Amino acid sequence: MNDELQKKVAEAIRDPKNVGEMADADSVGTVGNSECGEMLRLWVKYREQDGEKVIDKASFQSFGCETAIAVASLATELIQGKTAAKAMEMKPEELSGELGPLPPMKIHCAELVQGALRDALSPESQALGQAESPAKPDGLAPTLRDSLNEGQAKSGSINIQFLDE
Ligand code: FES
Repeated sequence: MNDELQKKVAEAIRDPKNVGEMADADSVGTVGNSECGEMLRLWVKYREQDGEKVIDKASFQSFGCETAIAVASLATELIQGKTAAKAMEMKPEELSGELGPLPPMKIHCAELVQGALRDALSPESQALGQAESPAKPDGLAPTLRDSLNEGQAKSGSINIQFLDE
């Protein structure tokens, strides 16, 4: 990674935005990269705006590298106010925002964020959010660590997708 990118990533993770589970999320998406072992979960909450359903806010948790955290932080800001369809069209380089182009070895970090976002924005995840809140009965959404510890991923109650390299 070049010095300039290293500096931007360091800046972004010094005060990452929108970190943590969202108790009142409408949908949630989780992905993992089987190669590097990083995982990322992303929550989305919608609102109505001018007759359209747009993303009100998004948050994330990551067992990911610094680049994935930096991209997730930027992406959760960039998608606010967009429809699910528009946000799903965003490419990894767009989600990376002000970080600029990532080196080839770091592109998959942005793809991890894109994967979690697409999973959260998919019609299936939105339907799941309406039928059954992803929040726990005590009002806290399950954390990525909870999911791994409780083995929920294996039970199929949480959809973890592993991205192909
Ligand atoms: Fe795998 Fe960044 S090194 S997500």
